[in-house]
Amino acid sequence: MGGRIVVLVSGSGSNMAALIEACERAEVPGTVVAVAADRACRAVEIARERGIDAFIMLPGDFDTRDHWSAALRDAVVRYDPDLVVSAGFMRILSPSFVDSFFERLINLHPSLLPNFPGAHAVRDALAAGVTETGTTIHLVDHQVDHGPVITQRPVPVKAGDTVETLHERIKEVERRLLVETCRAFLEGRIRLEGDSVVVDEGAG
Ligand code: GRF
Repeated sequence: MGGRIVVLVSGSGSNMAALIEACERAEVPGTVVAVAADRACRAVEIARERGIDAFIMLPGDFDTRDHWSAALRDAVVRYDPDLVVSAGFMRILSPSFVDSFFERLINLHPSLLPNFPGAHAVRDALAAGVTETGTTIHLVDHQVDHGPVITQRPVPVKAGDTVETLHERIKEVERRLLVETCRAFLEGRIRLEGDSVVVDEGAG
């Protein structure tokens, strides 16, 4: 079984699916034991089709955001994860959620942070007219799209790109990077030294 992974999702789940497949191929020494969503979405369907526990926790079902967040945390804790991956999860995680999983909670973001944080990173990069954007995987801290960077990859912006074409090109890179990062994490090759992440080289 290896490491226990919980994935947080809100959307199409292509990164989650890539991670599940990499675990099945034993390219990542772990198993996606659960998928948590804040809404009904394709990612939940994919997870269920693959026999993975997937649950939807709707913020609207709770009195306050804090109650929702606490319920989400409690639900994730029950799966005893070694690694929690936010892969297209479109809600801000509360400080208590972050504290519960600190140093084992990572987020995937479609820009070269600190450039273009927020929910519209691809649109904002296009609007800014940059020739290069990319993707970042980082440990999550109490600020949005912020925390020690684990890895980043650039992606070129091409003439005629739309938000959709550029985002798809970024996601192709993200899927590989996410798999590599989860593998390194579960092999114990990622550690925090002070405020920086150190990634040890793998065997190959
Ligand atoms: C990815 O680009 C990720 O960086 C961002 O949301 C997107 C999720 O895509 N946070 P998918 O749901 O994995 O296809």
